[in-house]
Amino acid sequence: MRNNKDLFEESKKYLCGGVNSPVRAMKPYPFFTERAKGAMLLDVEGNSYIDYCLCYGPMMLGHKNPEILDAIKHQLEKGTAYGTPTENEIIFAKRLAQVVPNVEKVRCVSTGTEATMNAIRLARGITERQKIVKFDGGFHGAHDTVLVKAGSGVMTTAIPGSKGIPEASIKNTISVQFNNIEALSSVLEKGDVAGVIIEPIVANAGCIMPEKGYLKEVKRVAKQNGTLLIMDEVITGFRVSLGGAQEYFKVNGDIITMGKIIGGGFPLAAFGGKKKIMNEVSPEGHVYNAGTFNGNPISIAAGLKTLDILERKETYANIKEMTDKIMDGISDMTSKMKTALYGAPGMFCLYFGVDKVKNYEDAKKSDTEMFKKFHKELLKRGVFLPPSQFECNFLSISHDADIIDKTLENMGAALKTIKK
Ligand SMILES: Cc1ncc(COP(=O)(O)O)c(C=O)c1O
Repeated sequence: MRNNKDLFEESKKYLCGGVNSPVRAMKPYPFFTERAKGAMLLDVEGNSYIDYCLCYGPMMLGHKNPEILDAIKHQLEKGTAYGTPTENEIIFAKRLAQVVPNVEKVRCVSTGTEATMNAIRLARGITERQKIVKFDGGFHGAHDTVLVKAGSGVMTTAIPGSKGIPEASIKNTISVQFNNIEALSSVLEKGDVAGVIIEPIVANAGCIMPEKGYLKEVKRVAKQNGTLLIMDEVITGFRVSLGGAQEYFKVNGDIITMGKIIGGGFPLAAFGGKKKIMNEVSPEGHVYNAGTFNGNPISIAAGLKTLDILERKETYANIKEMTDKIMDGISDMTSKMKTALYGAPGMFCLYFGVDKVKNYEDAKKSDTEMFKKFHKELLKRGVFLPPSQFECNFLSISHDADIIDKTLENMGAALKTIKK
């Protein structure tokens, strides 16, 4: 019989560290997924797990959503990649422009990494400035400019960053503390920063919420200093509301990056903004972007069906109700423990050993050993959280009341065991 341990041993021979993305590495070994449906993952040993990782965010419609499958089957019959424009790309772009605030035009790419890399290039191209500001613990993909004090998997590696990045690329990246407007102002006021890239909720250091009015201040300070605001909605977009964090917090970005959910489980991402900004992108403008798989027909078909489902009235109401339910349950069972719980519709994070987390430094003070024990106990009981304290948990439309009740029951049992 194939088992997780043996597969990992085999995997290590051919894949770096046995995985294709570092966040998937789990001690002593990860489980290998055989199939998935709704809120559930099934591994090669026949164990099933309620999934709160959801492929690190994209699977908001649950795994193997039948409507998405139908949409892509239909497209498969017509071909998979053409390298020419398609009508569906226009329909998709138009629909993005209808639902995402401050977006009139987009360029579709394949990954969130490409979306943020190009958004940054665009900000540099328009302002003719070189410097970029990001926030400690914010993760915007694995490209050179943004791997400075980055969150996600970078937080758990020995070297906080990455080797192989030329000094010249990171010397233009300044990382500042989240929820600290003075720190941002003092950098921007020098007038040489092209763009500020921000995760409106820092979901790659858990789930750090912006303090009241903070994002509006970020926008104000950026504007005052001629700096473009890049709202990285790769996680929050189509999750906290149809219009993402911009709609949820009522704040505008100049360039908006989208990914994960919009592809309905396929590689699809985009960056967009007002025409005036997006007209600077090639071939109309002089900021270059290209990609063989940009606007891939299969991804676009899945993306269009995703928008159909997200636009249904009940989608976000249900997501919010289920997020409240799980957060209330967790809050009750941890009321006598030193923990901090944060969330927004469709996402949440429980930090151990701290009372509050308002920035990356606070997040790093959390008790990661306790988290590891919690994670392990939950896994034994069939609940899969992303395997790091610094990743966010996600809900899909398949996470119904029964699934949440079952999760809470198992969380209660797991907490009892680790407190002993
Ligand atoms: C906020 C944010 N931006 C960008 C990215 C990069 O996206 P991708 O992994 O699709 O390249 C991620 C990935 O987790 C992310 O969380």
